[in-house]
Formats: sequence, structure tokens, C-alpha cells
Amino acid sequence: MNPVKPAPKTGNEAAARVNHDALTVIDSRTGKKYELPITNGTIRALDLRQIKVDDSDFGMMSYDPAFTNTASCISRITFIDGDKGILRYRGYPIEELAEKSTYLETAYLILHGELPARKELEEWTYHITHHTFIHESIKKFLDGFHYDAHPMGMLISTVAALSTFYVEAKDIFNPESRRKQTYRLIGKMPTLAGFAYRHSLGMPYAYPDNDLSYAGNFLNMLFRTTELKYRPNPTLEHALDVLFILHADHEQNCSASAMRSVGSSHVDPYSATAAAAAALYGPLHGGANEEVLRMLMEIGSVSRVPDYIKRVKAGEHKLMGFGHRVYKNYDPRARIIKHIADEVFKVMGRNPLIDIALECERVALEDDYFISRRLYPNVDFYTGLIYQSMGFPVTMFPVLFAIPRTAGWIAQWQEMLLDREQKIARPRQLFLGHEQRSYVAIGDRK
Ligand code: CMC
Repeated sequence: MNPVKPAPKTGNEAAARVNHDALTVIDSRTGKKYELPITNGTIRALDLRQIKVDDSDFGMMSYDPAFTNTASCISRITFIDGDKGILRYRGYPIEELAEKSTYLETAYLILHGELPARKELEEWTYHITHHTFIHESIKKFLDGFHYDAHPMGMLISTVAALSTFYVEAKDIFNPESRRKQTYRLIGKMPTLAGFAYRHSLGMPYAYPDNDLSYAGNFLNMLFRTTELKYRPNPTLEHALDVLFILHADHEQNCSASAMRSVGSSHVDPYSATAAAAAALYGPLHGGANEEVLRMLMEIGSVSRVPDYIKRVKAGEHKLMGFGHRVYKNYDPRARIIKHIADEVFKVMGRNPLIDIALECERVALEDDYFISRRLYPNVDFYTGLIYQSMGFPVTMFPVLFAIPRTAGWIAQWQEMLLDREQKIARPRQLFLGHEQRSYVAIGDRK
């Protein structure tokens, strides 16, 4: 029998190491003993199935609502160490990428696993840039939306609609088709988002400008008015590009899991991306940045922060932009974002809500409620303040999250498709409802 050793550390080194340790389980119901192999610090849930009371027993399952301790896949894309506040894409620390890379280069890295050579980056940028136009009929869909439709709803609907234009996207096991849909998805998301924004303002749609960078072109499609050539402010263009890098992937979060789960039915990537974007829209996920801004406006002044925190502690509401399933230390993205905020405020003027945000952070980080639960500001706590200063309405905030996350979603989807162990996602349930009973005629019911 192998001695039972503590599980190896999670992380890159541990993932690369295969050990032959085992978990010894004694079932107190039967007295039987089982050896469950441990690989990379995990046991296979299916190995539990052999643990039975008798032959008619279905076998042991693990119960894990919200998957708080279940690895659903093997991944080589993004690594997070929530205790140490580490985030890496393909091994590269987020701090280095934010400082030295661009969003398109980072998207290439996430999707291909390596940083591109110069020529590869040029070709990649060319292809993304030349897939930014959308079919004119999409404008008709957008025109059908009410003037105050939420832009995230418009984005989710129109990205799903793209599947009707590119029927060959169903050919998901054809690498050439996947490559084409990748160009289209990353290229067209900003255009769909820009058009949704212009629709909400009743302004004519601004078409993509291929001379501009990815972030610069997005600003062009949002803010261009009568000028012949839109010139983005370089500080804002750079800030947006860095924000896009920070949001490009985040391993198995709610929307990535939706992408993988929906994609596991072998639906086309546009439909799966719409599902992922819908998951992102929720206030506990990418919709949190919008909620943070609304919360700061509701608090209204620094002097009202302690009272608000008191109400949070009383369970009246959450402190939006605080807490994370994985980070139990400062979110490394939040640290970088604070720095970008300073750059943006220098150009656009200081957002007065920043003082309320800083006070919330100060009070919370000294309070035992937040300390004991290890609740720190997450990526969404400061992004909204930057977006607002840059001129985006709050409803655009989740959209600004969805655009860069598209690269991560496609990488997660592709990794799932090419993983021979993966099948259609289909969790088990623990059924605690009624046993069989007979139908009761309506007149006989109590
Ligand atoms: N304000 C007040 N209390 C909180 C908060 C918060 N923001 N977040 C967690 N808690 C409390 C929670 O009530 C619980 O307390 P208790 O143990 O007394 O029941 C404890 O902390 C643990 O929380 P949890 O709900 O078990 O944690 P979770 O891992 O299930 O949830 C979360 C993570 C992000 C959904 C949650 O922290 C939250 O709702 N935060 C606010 C929304 C938010 O900012 N979301 C953006 C996440 S980052 C961007 C992204 O990647 O999506």
C-alpha cells in the first residue's frame, strides 16, 4: 500500500508532476477499504463510484454545489494562486503583460500558448483588423431594440445572431474553421458593442477604422462624431488596452464554465459565446462593475461610508467589487487598475467617486468582518471609476469586460474541444424529492 502523503501544491510544477500516491478510504458502513489513486493532488470522482453498500447501490458520488472544490478540466491557459494574489497567462505574470504587452499580443498568447514572433503578430493583427465589419443586417436587429435597451442584452443577442451568418462555424473540429471564427469573434465584438452603444444614443453607427489599434478603433466606433479621422487620446487608448489585457482570461470562472459547458454540446462558437456573455452579465460576475458605480453613487459622500459598511455587515446588501471565490488576498488586477486610474484622471480630471471608493476600501480593510472573511477589492472595484471618467455610461461597463474576455472564452472552448477526456457536460444530482406516488384527480386534492 502506498503511504498517504499530503496533496502536492497546486500550480504549474505540481501539474507537471504525476505521482502514484493514493488516498485510503474506509467505508464505515461496510468496513471495506479502498485505494483511490492521487494524481496531481486530485482523486478522480469516478473512482468513488466503486464504493458501494451492496451491488444494487449506484455508488458514492461527491456533492459540490457551485463546484467550489471540483476541477472540471485540465487546463494550461491561466494560473491563479488566490492566496498569494498571483495571476499568469500561459506562465507570464499579469503585471509584466500589463506593462509590456498589448491586448492583441496577449490574446494571441492565450490562444496559441506562446508569445508571437514579429511576423506572427503582424499576421494575427491583420486578420483581426480585417474581420471587424459586421453584416449590414445586424444593424436591422439593433434598430429593433428599444432606445433604452441594455447594451449587454444587445451584445448577447447579436453575437448569437452571428451564427446565422457563418453556418460553416458548426464545423468545430476543423482547425481552419475555428481559426476563422476566432478572427471574427475577436474582431467583431467591439463593433457589435460600439453599434449597441450608438443605438442607445440614437447616433449613426460609426464603422471600424483599420488604421487604428484594437482599443483605438473601439473608441472610434463609440465616440467619433463629425471629424474626418478620429484620433484617440493616446493615454486613454493605452489605459483601455491595459484594461483589456487584465480582463482577457481568468480560468474556470462562471462565464468560462458556461462557454465550456454549452460548447461541450458541440454547438457553434457564436452560440457558446452568447451563453458565456450572458453568464458574465450577472451582478456577481462581470455585471459587478456596473453595480459598484451605482453603489458609490448611492453612498454619495465619504461621511456616509461607515453607515453603509454597517448595513453591509448587517446583511442588507453586499459591498460590490469586494470578495472573490479564488482570491483570498488582494486581486493583482485591482492593484494595476489603481495605477491606470491615476493616468486616466490626469487626462480627464479626478472622478469624485474615487474618494468614496478609497474610503470604502480603507474602512473595510480595517474591519474584522472583511478581514476574517478575507474580502478584498476585486477587479471590478476600480474599473467602473475609470470607465466613467473615460465617458462610458454605466450600462457599457459589462460590455467592456465581455470584449476582451472573448479571447479567453475561445481559448477555453478550444481546449475543451481538443481534450479527449471531455464529453458533454452533464453533472449529477442528489435527488431528495418525493418517491413515486400516484396522480391525484383535481377534485380529490386537499
Ligand atoms: N460584501 C459583503 N459580504 C461578502 C461579500 C461582499 N462583497 N462577498 C462575500 N461576502 C461574505 C458572504 O456573505 C459570506 O459571509 P458568511 O460566511 O457570513 O455567510 C462570506 O463572505 C463568503 O462569501 P461567499 O458568498 O461564500 O463567497 P463566494 O466565493 O461564493 O462568492 C463573490 C464570491 C465574488 C460572488 C462574492 O464575494 C460577491 O458576491 N462579491 C460581490 C460581487 C462582485 O464584486 N463580483 C465580482 C467578482 S470579480 C469579477 C469576476 O471575475 O467576475
